[in-house]
Amino acid sequence: MIRELLEARAGEDYDLYARTINPQFVRVLRTIGFDRVWARTEGQYLYDRDGSRYLDLLGGFGMFNAGRNNPRIRAALVEALELETPGSVQLGVSLLPGLLAEELLRRTPPRLAHVLFTNSGTEAVEAALKLGRCATGRTRVLATEHGFHGLTLGSLSASGDPHFTERFGPLLPGFDHVPFGDVDALEQALRQEDVALFLVEPVQGHGVYLPPPGYLERAQELCRRYGTLFAVDEVQTGFGRTGRLFAFEHWGLEPDLVTVAKSLSGGYVPVGALLMSKHVYAGVFDSLEHSVSHGSTFAPNDLAMAAGLATLRELDDAQLVERSERLGEYLLESTRPLRDRFEVVRDVRGLGLLWAMEFAEPEQGSLAWRVMERVQTGLFAQLVVVPLFTKHRILTQVAGYDLPVLKAIPPLVLTEQDVDDFVTALDDVIHKATRPTRVAGLALRAVKAR
Ligand SMILES: Cc1ncc(COP(=O)(O)O)c(C=O)c1O
Repeated sequence: MIRELLEARAGEDYDLYARTINPQFVRVLRTIGFDRVWARTEGQYLYDRDGSRYLDLLGGFGMFNAGRNNPRIRAALVEALELETPGSVQLGVSLLPGLLAEELLRRTPPRLAHVLFTNSGTEAVEAALKLGRCATGRTRVLATEHGFHGLTLGSLSASGDPHFTERFGPLLPGFDHVPFGDVDALEQALRQEDVALFLVEPVQGHGVYLPPPGYLERAQELCRRYGTLFAVDEVQTGFGRTGRLFAFEHWGLEPDLVTVAKSLSGGYVPVGALLMSKHVYAGVFDSLEHSVSHGSTFAPNDLAMAAGLATLRELDDAQLVERSERLGEYLLESTRPLRDRFEVVRDVRGLGLLWAMEFAEPEQGSLAWRVMERVQTGLFAQLVVVPLFTKHRILTQVAGYDLPVLKAIPPLVLTEQDVDDFVTALDDVIHKATRPTRVAGLALRAVKAR
């Protein structure tokens, strides 16, 4: 049935999407020349209907750590479907959720003792906020400026970026933000001993900002001192992204709450989870009456659980975490020389296969740069993203609204050859992007797209 439908309606992708879902988004894709009709995907590659191959350094916003259409994860899903497993009885439990929870807890510090499954990253964050408040009996939530935790109202209240929050207020009361990396501001905010949880990404995904040395260790220490739960959002950094299974391992942290999602199901089935300490669990699920204090109808569904189990096994068997560390170092080594070669390249940074290149106006000043910034701040990164895609067939993204930062979060199955191809393409694109005529062209397109 699906094959017939796809064949009968082939090529209508954008028109149909515009008519039925989101015409503005389709307009953006058409304006920047990203409106390819996709035929299939595999590993770190996308193929359009003409058979052209594209290198996917966006990885579905980091949900394909194990590679797109991973055959072993798919086989586990087919197997689970064919077994007709007895999931979601609701007033009853089945084996697969417990098995996945056991595997997650086996891979995390002993402080984490229970798992609550969700359908997405933002739901895992919502659960952390709700359960954190209940377990501590406190209402304040502290998060970091420019952090990102999802787009539902609780997560949005924790997100520190006005581009996501404006127009959607009022947000939830009790949320405050401190600068990422600022220990003194954090202590100041915690000292009143009324903060339920401090929610932090180990590496800020928007902009790819790494924590200053000692920051996260100190943050954990301060949280313990002032009775605040230390909540680490690993939705983007989890499952090998940064060269460790979880990014908090880089600093030997032992959080009270950990949120995960994205790559947990190998990109096949929506799934997320909140890992919590015994103390948090006991503070919320404290009686028979409170045994179902939080949850969601579909959350621990058997297909998501089967995909999760297969993904963890695949990360182990294919040694993808080690690969992320190795390829991440190679990517940094290969792209850092561009800092010396181009004045517009201000910084190259990353951890594992979470990578970014930041652009800035050349030191001696550039009229072209200023013209562009007047049209839209951070536009230069788009000047790089667009030809990387249209000319070199490499899919990347700008690291956040208005940020002059190019970002890559590819599937961890990336090869050295892919990195080499990316570096060659980057060199060409940055070289051309600094030409004033190119700048004017893009500025015009950006104005038209508004
Ligand atoms: C750190 C972080 N937290 C939460 C989320 C929200 O996850 P989801 O898109 O699955 O709701 C994201 C999504 O990008 C994220 O990067």
